[in-house]
Amino acid sequence: MRSALSLLALATAVTTTASPLAGPQQHQQPLLELEPQLGAEKKPSRALTGKFLHVTDLHLDRFYKPGSSTDGDEACHHGNGNAGYLGSAGNDCDSPESLINETFDWIEKNLKDEIDFVVWTGDSARHDNDERIPRTENQVEEFNAVVAKHFERVFRSDPNQDPVAALSIPIVPNIGNNDVMPHNIFEKGPNRWTEILSNLWNHFIPEEQRHTFMQGGWFNSEVIPNKLSVFSLNTLYFFDSNNAVDGCAQKSEPGYQQMEWLRVQLQIIRERGMKAILMGHVPPARSGDKQAWDESCWQKYTLWLRQYRDVVVGSLYGHMNIDHFMLQDSEDVDIDNLLLDLPSPRFIEDSDYENFTVQSKASYLTSLRDQWGSFPSPPGSVKDEWSTTDTSVIGTAKGKKRGGKKKRKREFFKKIHGPYAERFSISMVSPSVVPNYYPTLRVMEYNITGIENTPTWVDVQNMDTNERKSNFWDEREIELQKSKLRVPAGPGKNAPPGPAYSNQPLTLLNYAQYYANITESEQSSPPSSSLSSHRIHYELEYRTQDDGVYDLPDLTVRSLFQLATQIGAGATNGANIQTDELTSDSDIDRKKKKKKKKNKAWRTFLERAFVGLLDDDKFEDIA
Ligand SMILES: *[C@@H]1O[C@H](CO)[C@@H](O)[C@H](O)[C@H]1NC(C)=O
Ligand SMILES: *[C@@H]1O[C@H](CO)[C@@H](O)[C@H](O)[C@H]1NC(C)=O
Ligand SMILES: *[C@@H]1O[C@H](CO)[C@@H](O)[C@H](O)[C@H]1NC(C)=O
Ligand SMILES: *[C@@H]1O[C@H](CO)[C@@H](O)[C@H](O)[C@H]1NC(C)=O
Repeated sequence: MRSALSLLALATAVTTTASPLAGPQQHQQPLLELEPQLGAEKKPSRALTGKFLHVTDLHLDRFYKPGSSTDGDEACHHGNGNAGYLGSAGNDCDSPESLINETFDWIEKNLKDEIDFVVWTGDSARHDNDERIPRTENQVEEFNAVVAKHFERVFRSDPNQDPVAALSIPIVPNIGNNDVMPHNIFEKGPNRWTEILSNLWNHFIPEEQRHTFMQGGWFNSEVIPNKLSVFSLNTLYFFDSNNAVDGCAQKSEPGYQQMEWLRVQLQIIRERGMKAILMGHVPPARSGDKQAWDESCWQKYTLWLRQYRDVVVGSLYGHMNIDHFMLQDSEDVDIDNLLLDLPSPRFIEDSDYENFTVQSKASYLTSLRDQWGSFPSPPGSVKDEWSTTDTSVIGTAKGKKRGGKKKRKREFFKKIHGPYAERFSISMVSPSVVPNYYPTLRVMEYNITGIENTPTWVDVQNMDTNERKSNFWDEREIELQKSKLRVPAGPGKNAPPGPAYSNQPLTLLNYAQYYANITESEQSSPPSSSLSSHRIHYELEYRTQDDGVYDLPDLTVRSLFQLATQIGAGATNGANIQTDELTSDSDIDRKKKKKKKKNKAWRTFLERAFVGLLDDDKFEDIA
């Protein structure tokens, strides 16, 4: 134990003394004197569980009024209608406080002791969707404070302690486009909002990262000491709708600086033999003629993921409120243009995916499908291999195969850059707590084989924080540079595939998604009944591993890539999707009759995108 902890202290000091731009050799000074201050009276921390929670887009709205109108203009604030006590599924209303309270109570009862950390991808405050009650800075701060307090309450290490002194597990927050005023607009830091959020997230941002956060709203948190770090990216600097900044090509831009920070930190993570999960609010959506990020940011991100494919475990996002994932294709990276530092192409302005209708969300999903339909699809022999969890057979030609088969396989692997599909990287988007559809929570499972008893985050918290020296991000070092593309070094020639590509410790294996049918609970307890009958009930929606459709052996890129090609099979460009939510029953019957044979993976993907709220019969013409 002792030696493990000294090593841990050493490695912690190693990151924390490193200047972000320093070369790899500089942070190797041994700090053997370091003694962790683990008193004998400290309870041993619990072991890893191999699970973590991804929660996103809570959108607390203290103006929500049960019984008010759900119409767009009324926003569940005014008029008379059927706004439910726990929220109103299927419209643009935000979350009543009861939904937030109940959701945290449910997390406390059902998940608190089952997870190792929380990835929380932002948007805690309500939308600015009501002219009669415009948002104010105080509200945005207040709603963020309320949500932060819930996390502190649920995950405090000592339930008798109030105010909170310590957390039982790390919580990693992230800035959403509605967590700032005005929404979407985020100036270069330090600014008012990095200061406000840094105070509210005092318990969540590691002390040695606070300066970094103040500078730009990004930071990383070593959620499993010496093993895994979660990178909270400030995607507002990549977001095309943030008019206060301009992408990632110019060194004066915070997006550029963030990419430099990410590059340097991932390099340090690689040198320490660690892995990283990236997380952010606005995902790098890019398909058809729309995209959410500035192109120069998307280009760098995709290039970084390609070069750090041995390090990055996966990327998790929110914002869009629909359940889906996306693939970044490294063949779309245009290094020459990035080197020439050309201005990034601007895409259609409605790339703000928020508040976009079911219709436009469905057409976005269709454009993803078209993109996936154009990818090379695995030949039968590869499908067989990929459906097994036994990675030892990957890429080998098992048994005697006919020459044609082998050739097809070779050609396919060449197209996807080898047997692990390293041409691609994945970003996964969790649906929201705010019930645009139904409130949703996602519990991710990851591989902890061989690291079950590694010292945890809590063990390191118990060390004297003075020993964990400041690791701040000094932007002046960036200012001295010229704008240029520093292509990150790739993995070593003989490096094995990373955890995103082959199942190994820290690989994402599965997620279990939980949803609460708040319509149902509304019906079983009329609004007049006592509050206690409005208990929220989150139930399992599906698990990716054994749901009967996806049946993914794990969440590696090749597993999700194969699912994507299945979803994309038979895609026809420009499918006409009829998504009127108020389709009458007779319309549905009519459509049922002319329902064609459909692609099951695609249909399931589409149903799940809207958390089962929309009947798939409402989607017409999806062959
Ligand atoms: C977004 O929502 C607001 C308020 O409901 C509405 O007035 C506006 O037209 C919507 N914008 C789009 C592009 O749908
Ligand atoms: C939510 O919980 C807080 C305490 O955490 C309480 O003050 C508030 O009244 C609750 N609100 C509702 C609507 O249940
Ligand atoms: C975790 O990875 C190891 C390989 O390092 C593998 O043997 C094991 O089966 C994986 N665990 C799970 C649950 O997939
Ligand atoms: C939710 O509950 C309502 C009312 O009981 C029901 O009509 C609907 O089918 C349920 N939806 C899901 C996805 O469970």
